[in-house]
Amino acid sequence: MTQPSSPKEALSLFHHRFVPGDRAISSLVLLLLHGTGGDEDDLLPLGPYLAPGAAVLSPRGRVLEHGAARFFRRLAEGVFDEEDLARRTEELADFIGAAREEYRLRDRSVVAVGFSNGANIAGSLLLRRPEVLDGAILFRAMVPFVPDKPPPLEGKPVYLGAGRADPIVHTTESERWATMLRAAGAEVTLHWSEMGHALSQEDIDAAREWLRGRFR
Ligand code: MLT
Repeated sequence: MTQPSSPKEALSLFHHRFVPGDRAISSLVLLLLHGTGGDEDDLLPLGPYLAPGAAVLSPRGRVLEHGAARFFRRLAEGVFDEEDLARRTEELADFIGAAREEYRLRDRSVVAVGFSNGANIAGSLLLRRPEVLDGAILFRAMVPFVPDKPPPLEGKPVYLGAGRADPIVHTTESERWATMLRAAGAEVTLHWSEMGHALSQEDIDAAREWLRGRFR
């Protein structure tokens, strides 16, 4: 995999949707990152619900697993191909930078909203390229990898939406992730719902409240 030679190339790597929003109402950009088997349209309705007026940037994962789109390769469920994850994280970070230029979003705050595999690459962005995100909402997220040294996440707000009955992400994994993020200085909210891996309306409403309290 070679590095994109220009911002235009970085932008064109990902099929994506961009919704400009209304700058008079919100200065946020929500980066929507779908779960395995989803696409760039999956989480679109969440954008205006979570943050009315926010711009929305929603890429489609470039890896196919038996036809299901993902953001990086895995060797088994919850076992990640860390080399591929590193490369795909850089690629996504470059895409975000290019989109900020192309869509004139330089003065906006970017908050990732990821579900499952999308939450895991958003977590990897926080660890590897923290400068591209101002905050993150991570639904049903795992520790993406363990970095050699903690990244600078001082004061960065991170919301972890975990399900007590999640058969894929165990409660201890959510707690481990919250502890790691806090150790790196992030301001972490770990929210528990009674759900499994799927999201409920309560999950989304709680994340909306959290976002409202932190970004305008
Ligand atoms: C992942 O691969 O990111 C996790 O296993 C979650 C999933 O996509 O099932």
